Amino acid sequence: MTPPKNPKPRPKVTPASFLDSLPFDRRLWRQDIAGSVAWARMLARQGIVSDKEAELIVMGLAAIREELDYGPFNLTGEDIHMAIEARLAQKIGEVAGKLHTGRSRNDQVALDLRLYVKETIGEAQGAIKGLQEALLGLAERHQSTALPGYTHLQRAQPVLLAHHLLAYFEMLERDRERFADGLKRADVLPLGSGALAGVPYPIDRDFLARELGFSQISTNSMDAVSDRDFVVEFLAASAMAMAHLSRLAEDIILWSSTEFGFVELGADYATGSSIMPQKRNPDAAELVRGKAGRVFGHLVGLLATLKGLPLTYNKDLQEDKEALFDAADTLLACLEISAGLVATLKVKEEAMARATQGGYLLATELADYLVGKGVPFRQAHGIVARLVAYAQGQGKELGELSLEEYRRFSPHFGEDARQISVASALAARRSVGGTAPERVAAALAAARRRLEGSG
Ligand code: ARG
Repeated sequence: MTPPKNPKPRPKVTPASFLDSLPFDRRLWRQDIAGSVAWARMLARQGIVSDKEAELIVMGLAAIREELDYGPFNLTGEDIHMAIEARLAQKIGEVAGKLHTGRSRNDQVALDLRLYVKETIGEAQGAIKGLQEALLGLAERHQSTALPGYTHLQRAQPVLLAHHLLAYFEMLERDRERFADGLKRADVLPLGSGALAGVPYPIDRDFLARELGFSQISTNSMDAVSDRDFVVEFLAASAMAMAHLSRLAEDIILWSSTEFGFVELGADYATGSSIMPQKRNPDAAELVRGKAGRVFGHLVGLLATLKGLPLTYNKDLQEDKEALFDAADTLLACLEISAGLVATLKVKEEAMARATQGGYLLATELADYLVGKGVPFRQAHGIVARLVAYAQGQGKELGELSLEEYRRFSPHFGEDARQISVASALAARRSVGGTAPERVAAALAAARRRLEGSG
C-alpha cells in the first residue's frame, strides 16, 4: 500500500506549537514594528539607551519592514513580537537585546492590538460609507417608485422604495457612529505599563502617545495589559452591522424570488443552479446573511474568554486575535459585497407598482377617511375590516366595489372614498419621518449631505 498523496488537512500539534500565535498574529507586524521604533526612540531620549544604540535598532527595524513590505514573510518564532526581535538580533547583533528594556510582551501586544483596531475602525467606516452610497444612489434613481411595505411579511401599507432603502441608510449611519464611539476607547496607549505593574525606568509615555498617534494614555497598568474591552466593542459594533447587512440581504433575497419579483440581481451576484436551468440563486446575499452568525459567535466567544480571567495577563487572551481578525475580514468583505449587490440591483418598477394594487394595502387609508368624517378610529377600523372581508369574499379589490357596496358598511362613505389611491396614501403620510414624497425627497437630500459632509 502506498501512502495517500494528500496528507490529512489537520495540522499536527505539539506542546510547543500549541502555544504559537505567529500563524495568525503575523498580520500585526506593521503595528509591532511601529511600536518598537517609538519605544527605541523614547529609550534614547530618556537616556535609557544611547543614541547610537537606538539608531541601530531603528535602522534594523526599518530594514525588517522593508523585507516584509517587498518580500515573502520570512520570520519564525512563537509570536510576532519574538519573531521580529529574533530577526533584529540577526541583523544588528546583541544590541537588539536592549529594545525590550522596560517593556513586556503584555503591553506590547495590547499596543499592537489597539493600533490594529484603530486602523480597522477607519476601514469599516469607509466600507459602511460605500454601502450607504450604493443605497442612496439606488434610492435617488427611484424617487417615485412605490412598493408594499410589510409587517409580519403581510402587505401593510404602500411606501416609497427610496424610503425603504433609506431605512438601511439610517441603520448604517448608527453603525458608523458605534465604531466612532468605540474608537475613543481604543485610542488609549497601553505601552509603558510593563508586564503589569509599571516600569522602573524614567520612560516618557506622552512622547510614545504622540509618536504612535494616541490621544490618551492608560491610567492603570494592570487594566492596560489585561482588558480587551476595546476588542469586544469592535466585535459588538461589527455584530450589529452584520445584523443590519443580514436583514438587507434577506429583503433582497425575498425581492428577487419569483413570488415577489421586485428586483433582478446583477450578473455577478446571482448564480445558476447546477441542475435547474431556470434558477438565479441569490448566493452572495445568502452568504452575507449566513456570515452574520459567525461574527455574532466571535463576540460571544471573546466575552466568554474574558469572563473568568483573574488579573492580569493570561495566555487565554491570545484567543482574542483570531476572533478579531476573522470578524474584521468578514465584516469588510460583506460590506463591500453588499455595496456591489445594491449598486447593481435592477428594480422592476412595474412589478412593485402592481403589488401595491393588491392586498388591500389602502385599508388603513380608508379607515383614516372615516376618521375624517368623524367616526372614532376603533369603529372605523372595524367597519373597514368588515368591508375587506366582504371584498375578499367577492374575490375583489377595494377599488372594484361599488359605492353602494361601500355604503352597506357605513353611510359615511362617499364617492371620494373610491378615489383613494396609492399616491394619495403616500402623500398623506407627511409626518416627520414618513414616506410622503416631499418628506422622502428632503430625507434623500439630508442623507446626501450627511454622506458628503462626514469623514
Ligand atoms: N502571543 C501573546 C498574545 O497574543 C503575546 C503576549 C504574551 N505574553 C506573555 N507573557 N506570554 O497574547
